[in-house]
Amino acid sequence: MTKRSASASSTSKLPRCLALLVLQSVQNEGVGSQAALDRALRASKISGPNRGLVTELVYGTLRHRRRLDRWLEQALDRGLRGLPSEVLNALRIGAYQLALLERIPDHAAIAATIDEVRKVVGPNKVGLLNAVLRRLARQRPWTGDASSGLPPWLVKRVSDYAATLSIDGPALLRAFDERAPQHIHVRTDHQIGFEDRAAAAELTLHSIGQIPGVYRVESGHFFESEIFTSRAAIAQDGASAAVVRWAGLNSDQKVLELCAGRGAKSLFLAASGAPVTAVDVDERRLQGAQRLVERAGLTTLDTVVADAAEPLPFAAASFDLVFCDAPCSGLGTMRRRPEIRHRRIAADLPYNHALQVRIIEQAAKMVRPGGLLLYAVCSFTEEEGPMVVEHLLRNAPQWRREPSDAHWVQPFLDQRGDLRTHPLQQGVDAFYAARLRHCG
Ligand SMILES: C[S@@+](CC[C@H](N)C(=O)[O-])C[C@H]1O[C@@H](n2cnc3c(N)ncnc32)[C@H](O)[C@@H]1O
Repeated sequence: MTKRSASASSTSKLPRCLALLVLQSVQNEGVGSQAALDRALRASKISGPNRGLVTELVYGTLRHRRRLDRWLEQALDRGLRGLPSEVLNALRIGAYQLALLERIPDHAAIAATIDEVRKVVGPNKVGLLNAVLRRLARQRPWTGDASSGLPPWLVKRVSDYAATLSIDGPALLRAFDERAPQHIHVRTDHQIGFEDRAAAAELTLHSIGQIPGVYRVESGHFFESEIFTSRAAIAQDGASAAVVRWAGLNSDQKVLELCAGRGAKSLFLAASGAPVTAVDVDERRLQGAQRLVERAGLTTLDTVVADAAEPLPFAAASFDLVFCDAPCSGLGTMRRRPEIRHRRIAADLPYNHALQVRIIEQAAKMVRPGGLLLYAVCSFTEEEGPMVVEHLLRNAPQWRREPSDAHWVQPFLDQRGDLRTHPLQQGVDAFYAARLRHCG
């Protein structure tokens, strides 16, 4: 933050200013948008509708940043280069409201933006903001502009993915530019009577397709409900839920979970009653996983900090199921984390592939003969998904893809039998997963 930055407390009731501070920390401190937004909203005293506006401005500005910059470029005599980041982000917030938030009239959007961000950008930039936003409102360069909010290399990747699955490429591009719906995933041990509990909590839910235990929240306050506080269900995208369900949740298996992170999938593995050992290289994330599982009243999770790309500290072939949610670009989740589209570059993918190959090789060594390996990533790129699995299948002939007869998963399977999801299918994120059997 610069000298002119206002603290969250002094700006706590100004939605546009709070949105600007969040965008600044996403851009300059490398924080994820969700984490930065949660932190800012918690620290502020902002009320209901204004909380919604902050969220809309942060996600919308990040999602449409490429277009906003192109439009702003036309309205600025000297272009965007050299503008301090707080001024550029304030202009983006203003432009987003003018171009894409129909419910706010232009004059109100301009006046409120200038008024609320004044403290952060400094009084000497107010004139510039005013002139540029007024010019933009007159020029309306967005009229007829149907270009994607993704960088060109990602437009190509999404189009390639659509071609692979024989689905509508332009529609998939548009879907990645939209806001993701709120999904929740209910634990198997809380499924009975769940819909009555949801009704008592005044939540309106719709099941999405057939993914077991997954609902879209239509209305109500999920995070304030006892369903969430007891961790009977958590907010989790349908694709993420599908991956863990596809692993097959049952209490008779000894489970190793690699790259467990903060435990969003550990919760469901542990809720099956199976003993689960969760591994991650990041100790703080694993502590989060432990807290989540304890909060849910479950006791079957052990955590071990280890690098899964190196030999693991367990006996070889000692687990029935190894569930590996490998680190990846996260491109499949870019509706929920819109900053990802600006942070990733094509050169990340071979690097990720090399790491994932090392991780799947270590994962495979941990599975007993006859056991199962589930490899997953929250990405749709060939390098991070199919090419990693093909590498294992080529080099270790004891592994085979396991055909799946679960009815609900069939619509998500590709020709090889791997799970490949996307937002045009029940609004879920784009994930890849393969279910592999050790036939040695
Ligand atoms: C896709 S995220 C996992 C998300 C988590 N399973 C969930 O559902 O919330 C990948 C995780 O891999 C971890 N990771 C990255 N490199 C690793 C490595 N070499 N060994 C073990 N874990 C690693 C990261 O810390 C991160 O938590």
